[in-house]
Amino acid sequence: MSFRTATCGVLASKQAPVHFLKALNGASTRAGLRPSFIVIHRFQTTSGDRRTISTADSSTKEFFPKHPTERLSKTEAAWPHPIYTCEQMQAVTIAHREAKTMSDRVAFFAVRVLRRGLDFATGYKHDKAVALNKRDPAAANKKYAMDEGKYMIRNVFLESVAGVPGMVAGMLRHLRSMRQMKRDNGWIETLLEESYNERMHLLTFLQMTKPGWFMRLMVLGAQGVWFNALFAAYLISPRTVHRFVGYLEEEAVITYTRQIADIDAGRLPQWEKLQAPEIAIDYWKMPEGHRTMRDLLMYIRADESKHREVNHTLGNLDQNQDPNPYVSEYKDLTKPHPTKGLEHLRPTGWERNEVI
Ligand SMILES: [Fe+2]
Ligand SMILES: [Fe+2]
Repeated sequence: MSFRTATCGVLASKQAPVHFLKALNGASTRAGLRPSFIVIHRFQTTSGDRRTISTADSSTKEFFPKHPTERLSKTEAAWPHPIYTCEQMQAVTIAHREAKTMSDRVAFFAVRVLRRGLDFATGYKHDKAVALNKRDPAAANKKYAMDEGKYMIRNVFLESVAGVPGMVAGMLRHLRSMRQMKRDNGWIETLLEESYNERMHLLTFLQMTKPGWFMRLMVLGAQGVWFNALFAAYLISPRTVHRFVGYLEEEAVITYTRQIADIDAGRLPQWEKLQAPEIAIDYWKMPEGHRTMRDLLMYIRADESKHREVNHTLGNLDQNQDPNPYVSEYKDLTKPHPTKGLEHLRPTGWERNEVI
């Protein structure tokens, strides 16, 4: 309940960036932020007087420098984001779809393996931390506490791989539609839009960080393996891949829920009043007074919950025949049905007989 009031009630402070910078400069060496992974370097105030504040590293530049042209004033996003309300975002919960078929079990096992690997690579040991915290809170805090830098490493890496499955699936369905000379029934757009949305998550985090060479290498390597693995997997069993992404998104919702809870518990002081970057305010149309890092994480978590629902739903459908329920019109408008927004949440996906 604590974060309900915080999201809807907290007003942004113009002092936040200054506090954040001081805290970061003071903590950067003792907290072991692994600068080769990432350097947090840019943020802004809520009002019009945006400013860029860099760390002491004078080589740090604007991550996406603007290139003014003679004739263009602004380039808008091709896929406008649906508007989320405070109440809708607060209604997002951690959920798990039970693995019922062999395909489900394969998908769930693959996600468990990946999760372990990523936890190891990014120093994220939530379960161990909770267990030790029960016996010795001080020792748990010293040994396992996640700070802003560690979370940011995790978020950048996660989002850099999250944008791949939708693009692979959309691309393969696009090629199949042309190859077999038949309609796709609306799946491609939703899949590509999901990739676009994940890339916006990444670009938003990159406005607040500067990945080091090691992180770039990890992303490059992961993308090379990840794209090809998904390409092969989607050719073999698209249903399993959608279920796999559904399970992956369950984990994403858990990760962002923990970050929000950590902010609320005062464990991430540098994020408490940190402001969302301009790219995020534009994309999510974040209202005035609701543009903190915490608000941003609420938006991103809601997106992940939508991907969770969409992919679990797509995993329930006939991959060859069924239209995409998220872009279809329904005969009976009195019954809840899938939408692009958060109107009718169904965390474990819609069953086929409910939507087709
Ligand atoms: Fe994401
Ligand atoms: Fe996602």
